Amino acid sequence: MNEILKELKNILIENNIDKNEAAAEVDFILKYLLNIKYEDIILQKKINNKIFDKAYKIVKKRAFTKKPLMQILGFTIFMNNKFKVSKDTLIPRVETELLIRTCENLISQNSKVLEIGCGSGIISIMLNKIKNCKVDSCDISIEALKIAKLNSKNLQTNVNFFYSDLFKNVNSKYDLIVSNPPYIPLTLKNYLQEEVKNFEPHIALFTNDNLGVEYYQKIIKNAFNYLLPGGFVAFELGINQAELVKKIFIKNNYKNIQTFNDLNNIARVIIAQI
Ligand SMILES: C[S@@+](CC[C@H](N)C(=O)[O-])C[C@H]1O[C@@H](n2cnc3c(N)ncnc32)[C@H](O)[C@@H]1O
Repeated sequence: MNEILKELKNILIENNIDKNEAAAEVDFILKYLLNIKYEDIILQKKINNKIFDKAYKIVKKRAFTKKPLMQILGFTIFMNNKFKVSKDTLIPRVETELLIRTCENLISQNSKVLEIGCGSGIISIMLNKIKNCKVDSCDISIEALKIAKLNSKNLQTNVNFFYSDLFKNVNSKYDLIVSNPPYIPLTLKNYLQEEVKNFEPHIALFTNDNLGVEYYQKIIKNAFNYLLPGGFVAFELGINQAELVKKIFIKNNYKNIQTFNDLNNIARVIIAQI
């Protein structure tokens, strides 16, 4: 077993994939092929030739194309739930759990929530699942919306997904508007990992301004018209964006602005209230 893991891992490492990432990816592939729960560890499970061949093919594809593993497999595990992903959806990132956990504390079962930019639907689906509240959720990508709807159906949640360019098709008011918007300036594209810049949807990643705050600005400015009294806006933040976004909230007269740090002590979530 150890030899097999090592052999598969080395194919990835030899093709410039970071060694921790390589170990995690081989573990993920084998758990999938062996049908082992993702939270369990692979102990002495027997890997027959058929499983090895399948794992080998996936590893080769990952190593030689640099396509993200989750796009090759077509799914990811996020907060212990299986979500379908595709070339049209951002691959869910662990940071986003902090945004969901923060939002959980701002709402109740009676709350109305709007998400802008749902992608695969992780935020809306998890909030609906955990709080059983009403969630409307939009995206500008028709293909991402198809995946989000499928995920909602598979996880037996009840989210109203719809097409909208930011607030254009929104005509209700909410207790919480949440978004993990695109926040990487297009000028930084060449500094990104190949996996990200060559395979993830650019509409999910990039902004046209130099600071990556274009979407925060647009959402903060317009959210006033779509929030119920005392309503909140909650965002995931890019690294080093907390102060910039805080200033935009202040300029637009929001109050009770708070940031939340991730395990590396980086501010990754910001909330504010009208
Ligand atoms: C960073 S991704 C977040 C996806 C998902 N919410 C998550 O956390 O994994 C940003 C999302 O915003 C969507 N988006 C980009 N521009 C938009 C716009 N003008 N209106 C609505 N959604 C937009 C993208 O299609 C993408 O799905």
